[in-house]
Amino acid sequence: MLHEYRPGLEGIPATQSSISHVDGKSGILEYRGIQIEDLARSSTFLESSYLLIWGGLPTQAELDVFKHEVQYHRRLKYRIRDMMKCFPESGHPMDALQACAAALGLFHSKRELNDPAYVQNAVVRLLAKIPTMVAAFELMRKGNDPVQPRDDLDYASNFLYMLNERVPDALSARIFDVCLILHAEHTINASTFSAMVTASTLTDPYAVVASAVGTLAGPLHGGANEEVIAMLEEIGSVDNVRPYIDARIANREKIMGFGHRVYKVKDPRAVILQGLVEQLFEKVGRDAYYDIALELELVVEEKLGHKGVYPNVDFYSGLVYRKLGIPSDLFTPIFAIARVAGWLAHWKEQISTNRIFRPTQIYEGLHGQRYIPIDKRPDIWDK
Ligand code: COA
Repeated sequence: MLHEYRPGLEGIPATQSSISHVDGKSGILEYRGIQIEDLARSSTFLESSYLLIWGGLPTQAELDVFKHEVQYHRRLKYRIRDMMKCFPESGHPMDALQACAAALGLFHSKRELNDPAYVQNAVVRLLAKIPTMVAAFELMRKGNDPVQPRDDLDYASNFLYMLNERVPDALSARIFDVCLILHAEHTINASTFSAMVTASTLTDPYAVVASAVGTLAGPLHGGANEEVIAMLEEIGSVDNVRPYIDARIANREKIMGFGHRVYKVKDPRAVILQGLVEQLFEKVGRDAYYDIALELELVVEEKLGHKGVYPNVDFYSGLVYRKLGIPSDLFTPIFAIARVAGWLAHWKEQISTNRIFRPTQIYEGLHGQRYIPIDKRPDIWDK
């Protein structure tokens, strides 16, 4: 039995999986054995989701059915919309999304996990409704009514349409769709592990996704892309990059958008995202933050490259979303729109070979303590 404690479970296998693979030394990411570069070049988010969740690329007929079902289920129940109206406008959209994902389970609480139709419906509903929830909260917190999904628009175009109340141009929609492909899955990261632990209790998939959304929200995970833009804002100019990095390293503070538990080279998704950023800038003009970002990458590589600290997926994604006019506190919910595909793939894999997660611990506390009645306890305020 393994008794060595590894903080963060670093390097300890938590499952056997055939969904995705990361080679952190060579900077390779594969979904079901297909390299992420090929999917980003030729696939769509819904096709890649199908691949992840059902285990293989769909035929045209299978993809058409899947797309049609997702399109059909995009609308939210009016009771969920009414619930959202009670959310505070100042609340973080990730908290709103977590509440909505959990609430969806109230409408489908039968938990027929052995029924393929239940599994299929849950997959379709979650993929379909999560973007609508994110867009609806954005409009509602601005005091507007949510925009209904449009059946003639593809997945990415429809989300951008519901968010901005205008149909995006083809390049913006394609770039956004590629961003979703890149964020769809990434082995056993914190939110996926959270999804697997929840799934292992055989609860419903809505609770699985709600717990994963809560985990993704933290700044060391999905929240980092929002913090990258805040950091670029704070730095303000290329000249400030070096003193900023020096100060953070001296204070032992992390630089957001850099470093990864697995990748010790530049994250392949950051490479693709940087290409997308440049494509977008060619069409709609360069963002001043991009020059700051390029200088940051150079200085961080010079100072921390020996520790394997390079840009991760969050470093350039914020710049793409910013150029698409998306507010920075929606960056993590957009990550969730994509990652729901990976969470659902792991949910299906987990329940197919389930054993409940129940790790052990190394107890370091006291034993044999006496219970002291409350009137005999020393008052800490008198000390
Ligand atoms: N800025 C500065 N130093 C960093 C760093 C960063 N972003 N990421 C890692 N390092 C340094 C650590 O300080 C550590 O140095 P040390 O060995 O001298 O103590 C070394 O690199 C190893 O890092 P460690 O913290 O052990 O890596 P981890 O696997 O525990 O953490 C992250 C991985 C992602 C949590 C971490 O890199 C991080 O906090 N990054 C910033 C947040 C972020 O962008 N998250 C999104 C991830 S996709």
